[in-house]
Amino acid sequence: MLTDSFGRIHNYLRISLTDNCNFRCFYCMPEDDYDFTPPARLMQKDEIVALAKKFVELGVNKIRLTGGEPFMRKEVGEIIQDLSVLPASLSITTNGTRLHEFAATIVHAGIKGINISLDTLQREKFIFITKRDQYEAVKNNISLMINKGIHVKVNVVVMKGVNDDEIIHFVEWTKEHHVHIRFIEFMPFTGNRWTSNKVITWEEILDLISEKYSFVPLKNDIHDTAKSYSIQGHAGSFSVISTMSAPFCSSCNRIRLTADGKLKNCLFSNYETDLLTPYRKGEDVTDLIQKNILQKKKELGGQFNNAFEDLNPDTILNRSMINIGG
Ligand code: 5AD
Ligand code: SF4
Repeated sequence: MLTDSFGRIHNYLRISLTDNCNFRCFYCMPEDDYDFTPPARLMQKDEIVALAKKFVELGVNKIRLTGGEPFMRKEVGEIIQDLSVLPASLSITTNGTRLHEFAATIVHAGIKGINISLDTLQREKFIFITKRDQYEAVKNNISLMINKGIHVKVNVVVMKGVNDDEIIHFVEWTKEHHVHIRFIEFMPFTGNRWTSNKVITWEEILDLISEKYSFVPLKNDIHDTAKSYSIQGHAGSFSVISTMSAPFCSSCNRIRLTADGKLKNCLFSNYETDLLTPYRKGEDVTDLIQKNILQKKKELGGQFNNAFEDLNPDTILNRSMINIGG
């Protein structure tokens, strides 16, 4: 079992398959001329599967594939297939653009839920945020996944002055559709133009929704990062993720493997352990994994706290989001 010095058991591994992406979301990608990691420095397919197996032996029972955009990775179909036979539930976070190409793989692999990023329901704004004209493709693929019986969660990064005027529109979408909207507080990462006054807190989001709808909390699992709610008569539901104003670190069960094979014990940790190099030398990485987990800080990578109003993002040492994988 992967237990840290605060007694938290880590059974949830997020594996980034690539830092490449076909979008350019400004809150995720640091700049336009970002250099993607060359393929030789990425974990190869068999290395991903072997390292995932090692983590499962150590108690991981939930794996999520992330990116960049995971479906940009060559061999993603085979990777999904190979990981799906492990005794761990498998899920994916994607920008949704290529899901139609992989619908059969996803169903065949028994994937029950997919998280899709979509920050606006307006085509022009979609282009402004992602620098790509693919709004319809994403919307169509969300419908496709729902029709295939996959549980779809839509990740909405809420940013003041960008999409806070659309919170109600997203909630209205849940009326007729089996879609679960997750409103995420805007988080600071290297180069992502975060400022504290662009954060809309989960309480502000709920206040705004309550002006139009009454809702009741749904039962949450202790490890859930999202607080979920439902509105009577709505087919879907919504939740809020309060990383900035009310962090949920005390029940954290997550660890991350970057596409270049480094273990990160927290989204905000600047401490990483290279597993790929020793693995390539034929060394056993168990001790390295355990040592990394024991270094895990109590909260937010030890880099800040929930007084985010006073936070200077330049003081945080981390990768950019595209390089971590969310
Ligand atoms: N703040 C909050 N959420 C973010 N994501 C990416 N960057 C940020 C950020 N700065 C979310 C995206 C994606 C998920 C992996 O992380 O919505 O769905
Ligand atoms: Fe790509 Fe997702 Fe980052 Fe947007 S948020 S650039 S879709 S990885």
